[in-house]
Amino acid sequence: MSSSSLSVQGLAKRYGDFVALAPTDLVVADGEFLTLLGPSGSGKTTLLSLLAGLVPPDEGSVRIGSQDVTYAPPYERDIGVVFQNYALFPHMTIEENIAFPLKMRKVSAADAKRRAREALEMVHLPHIAGRYPRELSGGQQQRVALARCMVYKPSIILMDEPLGALDKKLREHMQLEIKRLHREMGTTIVYVTHDQEEAMTMSDRICLMNAGRIEQLGTPADLYFRPRTLFVADFLGESNILPADLRTRVGDEVEVGVGSSGVSGRALANGHDLPPGSSVRVMVRPQNLAVARHGASAMGVPAVGVQGRVSEVMVTGSLTKVYMEPLDRNLPPLVAAFPTRNEADAVRIDDVLTLSWSGRDAVVIADTAAPAAGTA
Ligand SMILES: Nc1ncnc2c1ncn2[C@@H]1O[C@H](COP(=O)(O)OP(=O)(O)OP(=O)(O)O)[C@@H](O)[C@H]1O
Ligand SMILES: [Mg+2]
Repeated sequence: MSSSSLSVQGLAKRYGDFVALAPTDLVVADGEFLTLLGPSGSGKTTLLSLLAGLVPPDEGSVRIGSQDVTYAPPYERDIGVVFQNYALFPHMTIEENIAFPLKMRKVSAADAKRRAREALEMVHLPHIAGRYPRELSGGQQQRVALARCMVYKPSIILMDEPLGALDKKLREHMQLEIKRLHREMGTTIVYVTHDQEEAMTMSDRICLMNAGRIEQLGTPADLYFRPRTLFVADFLGESNILPADLRTRVGDEVEVGVGSSGVSGRALANGHDLPPGSSVRVMVRPQNLAVARHGASAMGVPAVGVQGRVSEVMVTGSLTKVYMEPLDRNLPPLVAAFPTRNEADAVRIDDVLTLSWSGRDAVVIADTAAPAAGTA
């Protein structure tokens, strides 16, 4: 394994009886951008702290490349860390703070000064080089912490909500800077956020955590379009989740009967291999739910006949969202989203629409209750 890959095996952490991280296996490839996403208390910071060596595990191992670093102190793991509360040195100026990791690496004073100045430019703070940390706002301190980590270009960087205190514009700018660093330096990055949009746009893969374990690991598209559990479907954006009975398997799709009326529809089997008759859920994203006036076929897809009465229409400029109450009372409220075209095909409240979807755009989710979110 190359030197900046990270892997953990059976890694676990408990606090008393409380399991903060259940035994976990994970491999982060060399140069990968992996995001730990999940609700508050799901174990993201715990996992990151174990990777950084800030807390010892109860079980399992951590490797960087082929080297076992499970019990190595943080400074022996060529890992840069940007934690939310990772304090700057209070007695040093901002420039000295940023130059510090370079001095530790025996970079000449002149070089260190120049690179610290460049790093400050990058985080849009060239004017505060001579100040002390206490003279900075929280968001400014966060940017300095980022600059201090990036300045010595470690081969692995762990970041725990590094942009949490920034306003939207600065946050987007820093997202681009972090992506650029990742691309240009080939840095392996493990990034923590609970902002699903940030996770989707930044990551090669997302590791979605729930209650101290990995719920699903995959590309943003895997998690968004092919969630394996209700928890994943629910966590990432809006979704329609329909109770259904499994009928027959057709290639990699299944035919299902939806709701109490048993209207037939299709969905990708999604790796599930369940016998006919099983209760499942079918998930369809709002943009994949086609709506047509009652009786018509929608977008060339034959209408499957799930009918909904429009309860709300929201036109958000380019996108129209239609919320519906299904006539079948056993189905939950549904939402469809489509590009706003013109006023003539506007949908009105109380219209009854027929909903359909293609089998390629829907997935089967096993019918288990979503586990409780990770708050203890
Ligand atoms: N030192 C500790 N002692 C006791 N419990 C702890 C300790 N550190 C973390 N925990 C618990 O472990 C669980 C996971 O915490 P962790 O900080 O990893 O969550 P997180 O996913 O980072 O959440 P957030 O999004 O709120 O930062 C929480 O329930 C937390 O209370
Ligand atoms: Mg945390």
